[in-house]
Amino acid sequence: MKLTYSNLGGSGNGIGIGNGNGNGSKMSLGKSIKMYLTIFIATTCIYMVLYQYHISQEPFAGSEVVKPPLYIITPTYRRPEQTAELTRLGYTLKHVANLLWLVIEDANKTNPLVAHTLDRIGVPYEYMVAPMPEKYKQTKRAKPRGVSNRNRGLQYLRQHATEGVLYFADDDNTYDISIFEQMRYINKVAMWPVGLVTKTGVSSPIIQNGKLVGFYDGWIGGRKYPVDMAGFAVSVKFLKERPKAEMPFKPGYEEDGFLRSLAPLDNSEIELLADECRDVLTWHTQTKKNAPAQALNRTRYRDTNLEFIDKLLVRP
Ligand SMILES: *[C@@H]1O[C@H](CO)[C@@H](O)[C@H](O)[C@H]1NC(C)=O
Ligand SMILES: *[C@@H]1O[C@H](CO)[C@@H](O)[C@H](O)[C@H]1NC(C)=O
Repeated sequence: MKLTYSNLGGSGNGIGIGNGNGNGSKMSLGKSIKMYLTIFIATTCIYMVLYQYHISQEPFAGSEVVKPPLYIITPTYRRPEQTAELTRLGYTLKHVANLLWLVIEDANKTNPLVAHTLDRIGVPYEYMVAPMPEKYKQTKRAKPRGVSNRNRGLQYLRQHATEGVLYFADDDNTYDISIFEQMRYINKVAMWPVGLVTKTGVSSPIIQNGKLVGFYDGWIGGRKYPVDMAGFAVSVKFLKERPKAEMPFKPGYEEDGFLRSLAPLDNSEIELLADECRDVLTWHTQTKKNAPAQALNRTRYRDTNLEFIDKLLVRP
């Protein structure tokens, strides 16, 4: 019998399906289709199971767990911009793996509104307080803002951290997240340029023939390290080998004093990030100061949404 597919194709040779009579060849064709379908479905299922297993394993085995941790120390204080600034920085940090955000407020007690904001962002964090000592508050000149906070962060690292890298990230700056991946692997201290600092428009190490030969900054002020707070990171191990290292209560000289306290540190040991300081990945943005919100007239706006919003306004 020649009732085969080869007839349709016009070729004289059968393909091997349907060597029997007409009925027989139809049945075997049906069986074959079932068989091929079964094999196809089974293969697809096995493939899908293996693929799911593969993607469930990958993020852990491949990248995240082996990355050294980053400790981001952010001083903050009560002011109208506080929630907005922490939110903006928090969502930047959310792009960075294996990170602990140390948010430290210049206050006697934590503020539930700040805790709520940090919870909502969802970055792993520790929220602590470290008030500025009273004697520094009295002065009419510049106050050593954020120093208590940062030293509290250092104290936390000495107690809880063993490896990784620390970075002081103020909440009003802008950060390209690639700088975090670069600083993660440093051995001692790393530096890089910070935009929007002083009249020079940028504060940066000066690099010549691959070597750090000086610093470019609109205000040198006799500093050994005229760098911005956002322009350096320090290895946790290196910090812990210097038990006395801390930030001085000296306005304008916080970075310099802290870096000096990390001695011995030779300039040749400072790692140069951001394409050997040829790129700008961090900016000292600063935010316009807003006047505190006026009090809500609770008689006039009783039982409206404004009663809820009013609780979210940070008043000094
Ligand atoms: C914190 O407490 C001290 C001592 O009780 C007090 O003098 C100071 O004003 C408080 N600071 C703040 C920011 O509330
Ligand atoms: C608050 O609103 C009430 C009702 O509108 C008005 O009588 C009162 O003068 C307002 N109080 C203030 C302090 O503006």
